[in-house]
Amino acid sequence: MNGGRLKVDGLRVRYGGVTAVEDLSLTVEPGTCLALLGANGAGKTSTLRGIGGLAAAGGGIWLDDRRLDTLSASKRARAGLGHVLEGRHVFKSLSVAENLRVAAGRASRPSEVDPLDLLPELRELMPRLAGGLSGGQQQMLAIARAVAGAPRAIMLDEPTNGLSPKLVGRTIEILADLRDAGFSVLLVEQRLEVAQKLEADVVVLRHGRVEHRLHGTDPSLPDLLHAAYLS
Ligand SMILES: Nc1ncnc2c1ncn2[C@@H]1O[C@H](COP(=O)(O)OP(=O)(O)OP(=O)(O)O)[C@@H](O)[C@H]1O
Ligand SMILES: [Mg+2]
Repeated sequence: MNGGRLKVDGLRVRYGGVTAVEDLSLTVEPGTCLALLGANGAGKTSTLRGIGGLAAAGGGIWLDDRRLDTLSASKRARAGLGHVLEGRHVFKSLSVAENLRVAAGRASRPSEVDPLDLLPELRELMPRLAGGLSGGQQQMLAIARAVAGAPRAIMLDEPTNGLSPKLVGRTIEILADLRDAGFSVLLVEQRLEVAQKLEADVVVLRHGRVEHRLHGTDPSLPDLLHAAYLS
């Protein structure tokens, strides 16, 4: 079984005096996708950074029965929490193959899913330097690196940002494959279409708090989002 239940209880993220996230609770079951939506500055990235251990946070975080919130970011990753950061973080001076090797080398166990089965488009790019790839290819590599790290839950911050419509479609397919492979997928998105097509559970954030919880296919979602973005 690839996936593990990701549970977050009462997450709070503050930067100095600024509260970015307050009392946020969510659960992502294995084989499902949860999308965090909300306007700029709503606290989506801060939520992922707090869960991942990249921002100081209060509250409880569990992956199955393992408590993560007392661990460093790297130990959370080794415990099975994959994190695809905003903006395609890859080692630009390393080849695609080396990027994947480094990620696999940091894992605490072999990945049950071969990232190249999930992203076959990377096969022919293996010898290429990551820095020479297109933005879309780098985004694919960033996802493949997370998979190579043998995660049980995977968090992705706006993976479709800046991609062409065709690559947005391809990214949705990859996210669906991750979900169907049994991973718990926690996704930050600006595009409603992604949450709808993935039939994700949706949490709408506003000013760092949960404003709505509903399903991506709920017909009232577009109007609710419109209101949350404008207010
Ligand atoms: N490093 C930081 N230091 C201080 N304040 C920050 C920092 N990072 C984010 N913030 C503030 O925290 C709040 C939430 O920001 P966050 O980046 O989490 O929002 P977001 O929903 O991801 O927005 P976007 O859609 O623009 O990516 C904002 O008010 C932002 O200004
Ligand atoms: Mg963000």
